[in-house]
Amino acid sequence: MTETRSHLFSPLQIRDVHVRNRVVVSPMCLYSAVNGVANDWHLVQYGKLAVGGAGIVFVEATAVEPAGRITHGCTGLWCDEQIAPMRRIADFIRAEGAVPAIQLAHAGRKGSSQRPWQGGEALTADDAARGEGPWRMVAPSAIAANPKRAAPEALELDEIERITQAWGAATRRAREAGFDIVEIHGAHGYLLHSFLSGVSNQRTDRYGGSRENRMRHPLEVAAAVRREWPKSLPAFFRISAIDGLPEGWQMEDTLVFSKELGRLGYDVIDCSSGGIDADRSRSVATALTRRPGFQVPFAEQIRKELKMMTMAVGLIVNPKHAESILAQGQADLICIGRELLHNPQWPLHARLELEGESAYDIWPPQYEWSLRKRAQWAAAYRESEGAE
Ligand SMILES: Cc1cc2nc3c(=O)[nH]c(=O)nc-3n(C[C@H](O)[C@H](O)[C@H](O)COP(=O)(O)O)c2cc1C
Repeated sequence: MTETRSHLFSPLQIRDVHVRNRVVVSPMCLYSAVNGVANDWHLVQYGKLAVGGAGIVFVEATAVEPAGRITHGCTGLWCDEQIAPMRRIADFIRAEGAVPAIQLAHAGRKGSSQRPWQGGEALTADDAARGEGPWRMVAPSAIAANPKRAAPEALELDEIERITQAWGAATRRAREAGFDIVEIHGAHGYLLHSFLSGVSNQRTDRYGGSRENRMRHPLEVAAAVRREWPKSLPAFFRISAIDGLPEGWQMEDTLVFSKELGRLGYDVIDCSSGGIDADRSRSVATALTRRPGFQVPFAEQIRKELKMMTMAVGLIVNPKHAESILAQGQADLICIGRELLHNPQWPLHARLELEGESAYDIWPPQYEWSLRKRAQWAAAYRESEGAE
């Protein structure tokens, strides 16, 4: 045990789940599933992130129904055949000491897309010719996600109810697969966020209009998921704290919504932003300008005003920066995305940087014994050379 325990590597208890440190692997789509079924690529990807020392490893946005995928390559939990490959992943993550977590999602009007490396645009006839045709996109209102996309179809009331049930069923499957944390993807312009924002939701029934009405479907989903998720296990919700559009969802809305989530038994608000309108020229530039930790103030405000646990995400790449966010009480967890694609062992390296070489004790034994020896040799060499 090290004497100078950093905040980043302090454990956290959430309900019955013990998290070994505050580093969380952000959910990141790999677009590599077939018919929503995870495969060896997913096992290796999430497995190496667990070996890399994170406290929680999130499996990517996983669709609650086929039309809820972003691309044909997205994972799903809309049928029982999708459970067993997910269980392999959850089991491996747990065996490596991390908490297996999964984000459930519905893409709404941002579905029926090509994979990013195929262009990321709407699926075309060429895609259909190679077996990956477009599907019917649904949303609160028939408003396209951006000028390049077709308008989705506005959901009928019975369809909204059916989708809520699909979230509940996918949650049951996530538990059966052995995940210990479930997160609802309510951000980035996907279905739930598109209900919240008045920019994309112009319904005139009980699901649109007032803030209370726009929150109705996301809160019904949140309640359905929480009902299916054991009380002993944590539930997270990822929000876009602001749209970035002057007429859209604002921080005061997020505070009201997060309070409701707290009442429903949500433990952590995962604070992201944006995604409702791809036309960034209309967005509030200062609020969404990409700079290190640009979304941390959202996590800080929710944490301080609502006394809820929050997770900070977005351009956090430097261990000392992550440490200072926790030390200043701005968030409880640090969620890291692309930096972990760049360096899956970021947590192990971060602990060496923050706590010194004694931190090798948390490296997997398969690596630790020889790297510790190497560090001792290096120190002895430096001493013999009279170097620092
Ligand atoms: C390849 C890729 C896939 C992503 N997939 C998801 C996803 O499935 N769910 C989600 O909420 N965010 C997703 N995101 C956003 C990340 O989780 C994260 O919020 C974002 O990249 C900002 O964090 P970072 O600067 O540490 O990468 C994705 C980002 C990338 C780069």
